[in-house]
Order: sequence, then C-alpha cells, then structure tokens
Amino acid sequence: MKTVCILSQKGGSGKTTLAINLAVASQLKGKSAMIADMDSQQSSSMWHTARADDFPYVQATDSKGLKQLHAAAEEQGFDHFFIDTAPTSNKDSLEAVEIADVIAVTCKPSIMDLRAISNTIDLIEMAKLKDKCKAFMVLSMVEHYSTRDREESEALLKELKMKVCPQWLGTRVAYRRSLIEGEGVQEYEPRGKAAEEIAAIHKFMKI
Ligand SMILES: Nc1ncnc2c1ncn2[C@@H]1O[C@H](COP(=O)(O)OP(=O)(O)OP(=O)(O)O)[C@@H](O)[C@H]1O
Ligand SMILES: [Mg+2]
Repeated sequence: MKTVCILSQKGGSGKTTLAINLAVASQLKGKSAMIADMDSQQSSSMWHTARADDFPYVQATDSKGLKQLHAAAEEQGFDHFFIDTAPTSNKDSLEAVEIADVIAVTCKPSIMDLRAISNTIDLIEMAKLKDKCKAFMVLSMVEHYSTRDREESEALLKELKMKVCPQWLGTRVAYRRSLIEGEGVQEYEPRGKAAEEIAAIHKFMKI
C-alpha cells in the first residue's frame, strides 16, 4: 500500500481538494483508495456523505488512531492511503508524515503564503524524511492571468530547496462544484482542464 500525505499547516490551501481528487484518480485507475480524514472540520467526510459511490472510502480519525487505521487499510488490501491533514498542530501532522511514502504540500502562489508554510517544510525536515520519501510542493488556486505570481513562487521554492510539481492546480469552478456534488473533477468534467491537472499530478507521484 502506498501512503500519500497531503500537508500544509496553512488553512484553506487546497489540501482536501487535492486529497479527494487524487483518491478518485486512483479509483478510476482501478486502485482501491482510502482517505483518512484528520481534520475536525471533516470536509472529506462530508464530501463522502454527498457521494453516490462508497469508494474512495473515507474514514475520520485523529492522530492517535491514524496508525491503527493505516494498518487496518493495509490488511483490508487498499492500494492507496491518502491522508487529508488538519491545518493546525505540528505534533498531529508528524504522525502522518512518519508513515508517508509521498508528501504533497499544497500552497497558494503568494509569497506571503509561501513564507507562512516554512513550518510545514521544517516538519518534513524534522522527520528527516526528505530523502527517504518523496516530498514536493503543489501550487494550488493559481489564477490563469497571473503567471508572475506562479513564477515568483516557483523561484522562492527553489531557494527553499523544495521540489515543485510541474503541474499546478488552477482556480477552477469544477474543483468547487464537484466537491459539493460528492465527485472528483475527473467524474464531474472528464474532459475539463481540472481533470487534466489531477491526472498529471497523480502521474507525477508515480504510485
Ligand atoms: N483549485 C481550486 N479552484 C477553485 N476553488 C478551490 C480550489 N482548491 C480549493 N478550492 C476551494 O477553496 C476552499 C478551500 O479548499 P480546501 O478545503 O481544499 O482547503 P484545505 O487546505 O483543505 O482547507 P483547511 O485547511 O480548512 O482544511 C474550498 O472552498 C474549495 O472548494
Ligand atoms: Mg481540509
């Protein structure tokens, strides 16, 4: 089982959106996926309630229950385990970082937001997982008219020695609407730009 942790201590940076869509992408590729919803706001769980299909499966957990849930998912034969983390505690996120094969850090393409996530980058370094596990940044909610923001963000990330996923997530209505409908963007608008973005990021992870 491959474990993907979606991380960012910055709130509203697109973690849940990415976790859900990558899990749906796994399902569409014939892999069974579970999302561990670590956020007390339970956005992933609410999405699952609105969803017609039971998969990807979503299970709410706190940091204490995470490793047990992870072991249970492995035993039940899930192929992919996505962790949708909360925007808050360092200690809680560390539990998720420790079991991850891949860490995707979401951030909006703004210099202020990127400066604010240095804690998240420290967390990955603290766990000394940067070499063992694949960690990268994904810019999210990129406005199509502002290539300058994206380019400046990518330059700053290079300075911080963070690997950046060549595919970013644009600000698109499909991400918002599909979440409400209990779908992934690849289901909601299979030929849309958002579906292309998710497919590219999923491929980049090589899971
Ligand atoms: N690429 C996007 N395009 C348009 N809207 C988006 C995009 N990504 C996220 N959103 C919207 O932005 C809001 C925050 O996104 P999301 O819930 O995924 O962030 P989060 O990091 O999980 O937030 P939190 O830190 O509160 O858990 C949601 O309303 C979501 O629909
Ligand atoms: Mg969230």
